[in-house]
Amino acid sequence: MEEFFGTPDEPRLPDGTGLNLKLIETAAGPVAGNADGTEQGLFRQHCAACHGITGDGAGAMATTFDPYPRDFRRGTFKYTTTRADAKPLRSDLRRTLLRGIPGTGMPSFAELPPEQLDALVEYVIYLSLRGETEQYLVQLVVDEGEYLPLGVDAKEMVLEDAVLWVAEQWAVVEQNPQEYVVPVPPRPVCGSDAERAASIARGKELYASKDAQCAQCHGPTGAGDGEDERIYDDWNKPKKGVTPEQTAKLARLYTLPLQRLRARDFRDGAFHGGSSPEDLYRRIHIGIKGTPMPAAGPQPGAKGVFTPEDIWDVVNYILSLSGEK
Ligand code: HEC
Ligand code: HEC
Repeated sequence: MEEFFGTPDEPRLPDGTGLNLKLIETAAGPVAGNADGTEQGLFRQHCAACHGITGDGAGAMATTFDPYPRDFRRGTFKYTTTRADAKPLRSDLRRTLLRGIPGTGMPSFAELPPEQLDALVEYVIYLSLRGETEQYLVQLVVDEGEYLPLGVDAKEMVLEDAVLWVAEQWAVVEQNPQEYVVPVPPRPVCGSDAERAASIARGKELYASKDAQCAQCHGPTGAGDGEDERIYDDWNKPKKGVTPEQTAKLARLYTLPLQRLRARDFRDGAFHGGSSPEDLYRRIHIGIKGTPMPAAGPQPGAKGVFTPEDIWDVVNYILSLSGEK
């Protein structure tokens, strides 16, 4: 790990990842000011208290948040413009830094200069790439009982199968946005109150339909009180045993206790991935990665439960509930 990625003070990268080491270096290391007025150590200054120095989401303040600060090591990000099976764009991570994640502990960093945001985005990708590589190695050793011979061949294998493979997942999205970014068709204009009411009524029906299963998690009236209460995100699922005893035993293996995930109460009006109609369209089409919230729109090779027109009706329905509280 150290040979590929260096240390938190002196990050390093093998050739061919496509990441910008200069930017990463600005975000890394201890907090300091440079002679030319630029700043160092941005991640430790602004993020590590929550996300942890290695990006494992277990910083000193982590237990006070629900959901926990994101563990970047899975390489999964919730709020993206890219389809369900793809990495985010840099601009997706940047948007999250600019507006934060309303309704969670993730604050907005809109006051930081653009070059610092670029450095932090690059550093998140670096930590994520490092984390996915670490998990790959752990899996080899623990799950498959495979001891790594510390030879040149093993290093080549890890480089090819983990580091560069993951880096490629990030690169392809950036290089072919037309293939990976989910298009948002223009929102149909409702010319009159009657038209708007009709769209909301259609949305309500689609929402309640058996195929879509929205109500199963979000409840019949969208109050987040569906019957499916035992839901967990991908970060917490491994901590959940079948029996309470198993769960207690698993707890000893993790830094943070098991945390349940709640389906959104639409009446709150605080949508985590943004509250514009377009943001909600994306959320319903793409789903929320790393959570049981499914993708309802058409995906490559799958029709999806909703057409784009359906999704706009459902967006109108959800917006009609928003702010009810
Ligand atoms: C006060 C705690 C806190 C601080 C400080 C903080 N975060 Fe977060 N961050 C969170 C929480 C909590 C979440 C998870 C929200 C969720 O899962 O819905 C999160 C999520 C994220 C995500 C995931 C976005 C997605 O689409 O899944 C990124 C990226 C991120 N933070 C980056 C940063 C960076 C970079 C910094 C420093 C500039 C930072 N955060 C500072 C609490 C924090
Ligand atoms: C298996 C459970 C499940 C189903 C089925 C489900 N959701 Fe969700 N939904 C969730 C969870 C959990 C969250 C919150 C995830 C988080 O905060 O990480 C969520 C969040 C949302 C949000 C909030 C997005 C935001 O930015 O805050 C919307 C809107 C939404 N769901 C709409 C729908 C619609 C429409 C359907 C039906 C097509 C649906 N959901 C089906 C579990 C579900």
